[in-house]
Amino acid sequence: MTYHITALPGDGIGPEIMASGLEVLEALAQKFQLDFKIETHPFGGAGIDALSDPLPETTLAACQKADAILLGAIGGPKWDNASKRPEQGLLALRKALGLFANIRPIQVPNTIAHLSPLKKEIVEGTDFIVVRELTGGIYFGEPKHWDENSAVDTLTYTAQEIERIAVQAFNLAKTRRNKVTSVDKANVLASSKLWRQVVERVATRYPEVTLEHLYVDAAAMILIQRPTTFDVIVTENMFGDILSDEASVITGSLGMLPSASHPESGPSLYEPIHGSAPDIAGQNIANPMSMISSVSMMLRQSLQLFEAADYLDKAASETMEAGFLTKDLGGNTSTTDFTKEVKKRVKGGE
Ligand code: NAD
Ligand code: IPM
Ligand code: MN
Repeated sequence: MTYHITALPGDGIGPEIMASGLEVLEALAQKFQLDFKIETHPFGGAGIDALSDPLPETTLAACQKADAILLGAIGGPKWDNASKRPEQGLLALRKALGLFANIRPIQVPNTIAHLSPLKKEIVEGTDFIVVRELTGGIYFGEPKHWDENSAVDTLTYTAQEIERIAVQAFNLAKTRRNKVTSVDKANVLASSKLWRQVVERVATRYPEVTLEHLYVDAAAMILIQRPTTFDVIVTENMFGDILSDEASVITGSLGMLPSASHPESGPSLYEPIHGSAPDIAGQNIANPMSMISSVSMMLRQSLQLFEAADYLDKAASETMEAGFLTKDLGGNTSTTDFTKEVKKRVKGGE
């Protein structure tokens, strides 16, 4: 069987970490006799440069026909004043593929708890998932415009959009520790009042799952104070964006976190939660863990290659435990050397 993967390296550190992800994938292919066919396409700033469009038609078509999509990262100062920004390509791709369910796992195994800027005893054992609604809310609501004197963004949600993301969260909680934390701002926002009502209704179908509600400001605090109390967090698009970057710091670095984005049907997309990191691009110091873990999520969630995924996760965590750490985690291992070490462990210590 051939697995068709569309790779979108993007901008900044995107191509550096994509190279790392594809190299470990190739090592796994050899180890497990798998056949991956990789098609690479320009996207984001690279799409603007090559084809004057952050989401060129050919790139979208390649994504639509893939078994899964891997994305590095997009954006950068070069395109900040372009008529269409790279970020618009990313939002258009999520919308075009209907990628409404963004899954962002945050885990701190005991072996790396000392890398966190927070106290070891606070972060040790942290294991939760942010389920972020990805195709609605203030990112997409109309009207949206601005001039020198005023600006408008619109935050809308339908009950149907809230219900389908809540269902994802409850289903996930059932496979874990049976707890859902719904994060909103229902003391102020109309969209959050509807959010809370719909989540409550969905919860009645899952009597085994405990539901708690938190306002987003309090959630931001508790994430740092008691991160181990969370199991599945479900929240709207912008809150999920902000809280997941905050949560990444619990692990020690934003460069650690992968994500999966799922549609109701069609291919899913796997990408780090971070951006193109223009401040460190081209220096071979980016942490490729976010991409490597995105590859393992893809193996598990789109390709059902569970053994290969477990193997990759083990190789990556053993590499870190052996002391190979990139600069963001206080080490001095380069992106390419880290990748080499993971590949060595995938191949079985050659
Ligand atoms: P960023 O996530 O790119 O970087 C924030 C900080 O984290 C920087 O100091 C960066 O060096 C560091 N960092 C991020 N990933 C790292 C890694 N793998 N290893 C080590 N350090 C890492 O956020 P930003 O600087 O605010 O945004 C830069 C550009 O990326 C912007 O154009 C933004 O819109 C875009 N962006 C894209 C995505 C995406 O492609 N999905 C996500 C977020 C931001
Ligand atoms: C992310 C990014 C994107 C978002 C930007 C680049 C549009 O921050 O994937 O988290 O806000 O969703
Ligand atoms: Mn973000």
